[in-house]
Amino acid sequence: MATSPRLFLFLFLFLFATVVTAAQNVTYDARSLIIDGERRLIISGSIHYPRSVPSMWPGLVAEAKEGGLNAIDTYVFWNGHEPSPGNYYFEDRFDLVKFAKIVRDAGLYMILRIGPFVAAEWTYGGIPVWLHYVPGTVFRTNNEPFKWHMERFVTYIVNLMKRERLFASQGGHIILAQASSFYYPFIENEYGYSESYFGDEGKLYAMWAAHMALNQGTGVPWVMGQQDDAPDPVINTCNSFYCDQFTPNSPSKPKLWTENWPGWFHSFGDPDPHRPPEDIAFAVARFFEKGGCLQNYYVYHGGTHYGRTTGGPFITTSYDYNAPIDEYGLPRLPKWGHLRELHKSVKLCEHTLLYGKSTFISVGPLQEIDVYEDQSGGCVAFLANVDVQEDKLITFRNVTYIIPPWSVSILPDCKNVVFNTAMVKSQTSVVEMVLENLKVYSNSSFGSGAWQVYMEKVGLWDKPDFVLFGLEDHINITKDTTDYLWYTTSFYVDKSEDILGHGSSPILSVASLGHAFIVFINGELQGSSYGKYGYLPLNFEAPVTIKPGKNEIAILSMTIGMYNAGPLYEWEGAGLTSVNISGTGNGSLNLSPYSWEYKIGLEGEHYSIFNTNNNTDIKWIPKSEPPKNQSLIWYKVAVDPPEGKEPVALDMASMGKGHVWVNGKSIGRYWLVASSISDNCTPHCNYTGTFEPDRCLTGCGQPTQRWYHIPRSFFKPSGNTLVIFEEKGGDPTRITFARRQETKICGFVSEDHPQVDLENWEVHSKRNAAGAAMHLKCPEGSSVSSITFASFGNPTGTCSSYRRGSCHYPSSVSVTEKACLHKNKCSIAFKGESFTEDLCPGTAKAMAVEAACS
Ligand SMILES: *[C@@H]1O[C@H](CO)[C@@H](O)[C@H](O)[C@H]1NC(C)=O
Ligand SMILES: *[C@@H]1O[C@H](CO)[C@@H](O)[C@H](O)[C@H]1NC(C)=O
Ligand SMILES: *[C@@H]1O[C@H](CO)[C@@H](O)[C@H](O)[C@H]1NC(C)=O
Ligand SMILES: *[C@@H]1O[C@H](CO)[C@@H](O)[C@H](O)[C@H]1NC(C)=O
Ligand SMILES: *[C@@H]1O[C@H](CO)[C@@H](O)[C@H](O)[C@H]1NC(C)=O
Ligand SMILES: *[C@@H]1O[C@H](CO)[C@@H](O)[C@H](O)[C@H]1NC(C)=O
Ligand SMILES: *[C@@H]1O[C@H](CO)[C@@H](O)[C@H](O)[C@H]1NC(C)=O
Ligand SMILES: *[C@@H]1O[C@H](CO)[C@@H](O)[C@H](O)[C@H]1NC(C)=O
Ligand SMILES: *[C@@H]1O[C@H](CO)[C@@H](O)[C@H](O)[C@H]1NC(C)=O
Repeated sequence: MATSPRLFLFLFLFLFATVVTAAQNVTYDARSLIIDGERRLIISGSIHYPRSVPSMWPGLVAEAKEGGLNAIDTYVFWNGHEPSPGNYYFEDRFDLVKFAKIVRDAGLYMILRIGPFVAAEWTYGGIPVWLHYVPGTVFRTNNEPFKWHMERFVTYIVNLMKRERLFASQGGHIILAQASSFYYPFIENEYGYSESYFGDEGKLYAMWAAHMALNQGTGVPWVMGQQDDAPDPVINTCNSFYCDQFTPNSPSKPKLWTENWPGWFHSFGDPDPHRPPEDIAFAVARFFEKGGCLQNYYVYHGGTHYGRTTGGPFITTSYDYNAPIDEYGLPRLPKWGHLRELHKSVKLCEHTLLYGKSTFISVGPLQEIDVYEDQSGGCVAFLANVDVQEDKLITFRNVTYIIPPWSVSILPDCKNVVFNTAMVKSQTSVVEMVLENLKVYSNSSFGSGAWQVYMEKVGLWDKPDFVLFGLEDHINITKDTTDYLWYTTSFYVDKSEDILGHGSSPILSVASLGHAFIVFINGELQGSSYGKYGYLPLNFEAPVTIKPGKNEIAILSMTIGMYNAGPLYEWEGAGLTSVNISGTGNGSLNLSPYSWEYKIGLEGEHYSIFNTNNNTDIKWIPKSEPPKNQSLIWYKVAVDPPEGKEPVALDMASMGKGHVWVNGKSIGRYWLVASSISDNCTPHCNYTGTFEPDRCLTGCGQPTQRWYHIPRSFFKPSGNTLVIFEEKGGDPTRITFARRQETKICGFVSEDHPQVDLENWEVHSKRNAAGAAMHLKCPEGSSVSSITFASFGNPTGTCSSYRRGSCHYPSSVSVTEKACLHKNKCSIAFKGESFTEDLCPGTAKAMAVEAACS
């Protein structure tokens, strides 16, 4: 199609193909994307390749496909790919081509969001820090150095994809590429961006970016989202928790939802956000009910921030996001299964939805029906009840349906309900972290003691990198090559001065931009201050111990992830801004303008002591009893991995804050800071009503992140080196491994609301709409080893706490065992064959089963 880029904010490039049928022609009309002449519904999910490891990619993509997605979306992380100007990196977790080919080989479309700016809770929003130090650079506006480097990177990525023939125009599978967020990242997100922040310069930049992207000559159509005044064929898209009310800015454009947030990010010191599956399903069903055609979960798998890749500052190392696939790569139940049934239900409607005529019927103040009818007699209906409190009866074509609050029922034939967004019938499970002590080598080649330690020096561990009068910005000095920066200086107190004689200790006051710092005077720890997401700058005021004569002050300043969004975010500083000492008897001393010596990073970092290769510069000291509650200490131990195949984590509950490596590979920052308390902390969250990130929380008062994922592929069969840098103080001997295990699977279905066999739905709908049965499945490679609960009758409760009711069929357990024992998956029919006699007439029957898999 012809494209005439003018004023716009977003820029998309669509290109489609699958292994089966390579798409070559992708366009769109008002209803949807058109792939090789056919309108298509796209159900996509974001999986960010550097947030997992290559060995996990095939499994994640397969689970996404099994979960009913037909596309995978990813950002491209510039700062991972261009660590220094013109020096590119595409190995290991950053092997974008390998990831793209795994998606292709699974037969899924791909949406490639090239960036350059991604936000994404990723450090510095994905833009390399070095670019900030290219003279005269301002990010994301009409700025020559920024545009020059951005064009070079986008061109590099496009050429890489072209070389691998991954674009649809080349018979590849990449259906949609987005050169995203040139100027304004999200239309309605929590950071409060000002859309017009960069004004005309921003618009000029966006225009330039569009031309630059179009000039890439990908041979595929571009779709661009933008502001209200966007000209055809530019499509503006929606990013939000709900997009059913969103309308593109022209009737000729389809309705796209590029970010549906199925949870929310987690930050150190805050509780863990959750989004109920009923609400996500409701939002998705409403979107398709109201004419949407492309929906992408941001994120479908969140993963882990290895190394120093978290943004924020203060975003946790885990980027679990309460996504349908959890951090460890396991389907999150029932969320994953509930959405899978939703996707299948929507897919049953695809043709009629995309080619039918729609009719809207209002059947109450908050009750709506949308009907689609096509020329071949197809009919699809969505029955929605947006009331937040009550079930409502909706009568449609002479049949009355009960619709729970805040839910949508989907009728692919305008008669039978195959899915209601609030009725979670898919299997659920109990997932536990099963502890396993570290198997410590006491005889390893790493030394005679089980543990070895190395004390990091307080203050200058070598000659200073800089000596400056005054306090300089932390990031300006480190250029983000490390979290750590030592600020040191000294001051004199009269020998004659009676420091303690006047009753109170001198007070040290420090002001900083954060993100945290630890204060030492004369080598002794005096205190520390740690910031929190949304709470900077950061101050410190405490009594300190000084002595007559010369006093050395050393402050270890640190960053905890770089800012990742907001206008001019790249100019946000860090580190100390003011240091005073008062009460020395001499009055107040302002140390800020003193001559300060700066040392970048830790000595251990300088010598990469976390690397396994022998390092003669560092002398580890063997200790059978490693010191506890010690700040600034490195620990090393040789361990064997836990048995089995389940995902593995380190339980760091006994530690403070620091960084962990396994065999030289970073597991990321750890920090056991307790989460704040909130009234919204509840395991049973009310799913009705408009969702907000802090609506459904867990983990209040608990360590924000106790478990740290170690990919299995990081381990050797034995003799693995675990290195920990502890900054505050902890007990390393109480660190354990944990295996993430699905210890139980559970199902609960009722006759009134049976699970529908969506694969054979049409057959069932003719025979018996109910098709009442329970379907259960153990994790891949395991089978049902015991039935720990089974009751057909009127059981109650939730997984792990089911109870029999007044009606219970004595054969429940034997019937279930017969159907399921030693099987990976099974179905228990609860009409006809199994439970013939009606033991409790008049009681609506349900069945609850809890089983162990091994
Ligand atoms: C691509 O598809 C559009 C709409 O389906 C059609 O108008 C156009 O002719 C097709 N182009 C090619 C090259 O096949
Ligand atoms: C609903 O019932 C009325 C009265 O029995 C009948 O006239 C009408 O055709 C029915 N409508 C549908 C859609 O079945
Ligand atoms: C260390 O001990 C394990 C068993 O505890 C033994 O299998 C291994 O051979 C020993 N290794 C060395 C180098 O002594
Ligand atoms: C305290 O005051 C005396 C006299 O003014 C001065 O000589 C001394 O250096 C001061 N101490 C500090 C720490 O500035
Ligand atoms: C230190 O003293 C100066 C001068 O009195 C004052 O402006 C500044 O706010 C003080 N800083 C702190 C951290 O108290
Ligand atoms: C970093 O250094 C630059 C150049 O000197 C300066 O303009 C900028 O304000 C400094 N940043 C901070 C946060 O102080
Ligand atoms: C370290 O070097 C010593 C001596 O060269 C060697 O015996 C030992 O195996 C090495 N250890 C590791 C972990 O490479
Ligand atoms: C750990 O050390 C800190 C500072 O030295 C001290 O305040 C704290 O009580 C110690 N904690 C334990 C458990 O020993
Ligand atoms: C759930 O929240 C809504 C507000 O969104 C409220 O009206 C409703 O009463 C709540 N339901 C329950 C069961 O607490």
